[in-house]
Amino acid sequence: MAEDLQIAKGTKQAQYESLIPQITGLLAGETDLIANLANVAAALKVQFSWFWVGFYLVKNDELVLGPFQGPVACTRIKKGRGVCGASWEKAKTLIVPDVEKFPGHIACSSLSKSEIVVPVFLNEKVIAILDVDSELLNQFDETDQHYLEKIIALVNFN
Ligand code: SME
Repeated sequence: MAEDLQIAKGTKQAQYESLIPQITGLLAGETDLIANLANVAAALKVQFSWFWVGFYLVKNDELVLGPFQGPVACTRIKKGRGVCGASWEKAKTLIVPDVEKFPGHIACSSLSKSEIVVPVFLNEKVIAILDVDSELLNQFDETDQHYLEKIIALVNFN
């Protein structure tokens, strides 16, 4: 396994295209879910320099903070609460261009301005979410949705 990530420049698409095979390499041969989620969060954070990247795992009908990169965050989120809880409840990716306009947004940090939350499915149930926050407004679009969903699909959540 290569231990250094090669950081790509260029379009968002080019950056994801460079990152995906590297994430595949990082995951290869490792079966521990926490280790793999930690490296996925780190790879995304280092490539894109987002404010916060991390996972929340569904445990006893709550989202509980999992591996992440960035400032300290809320540890538990109930279904339907905030962008993360809404993504879990609706079982779909949510792109929020301006978090202050999202009803019930949970501000772990006032520096976070836009956000994308991608649910992770196992046997058709949401078992985790990937949350990405930016300090800039309007940072996420369908390209991020496409690639982040693809990256999540690389992880074995079994
Ligand atoms: N803003 C999220 C909470 C999680 S943190 O930003 C890390 C939300 O509204 O669900």
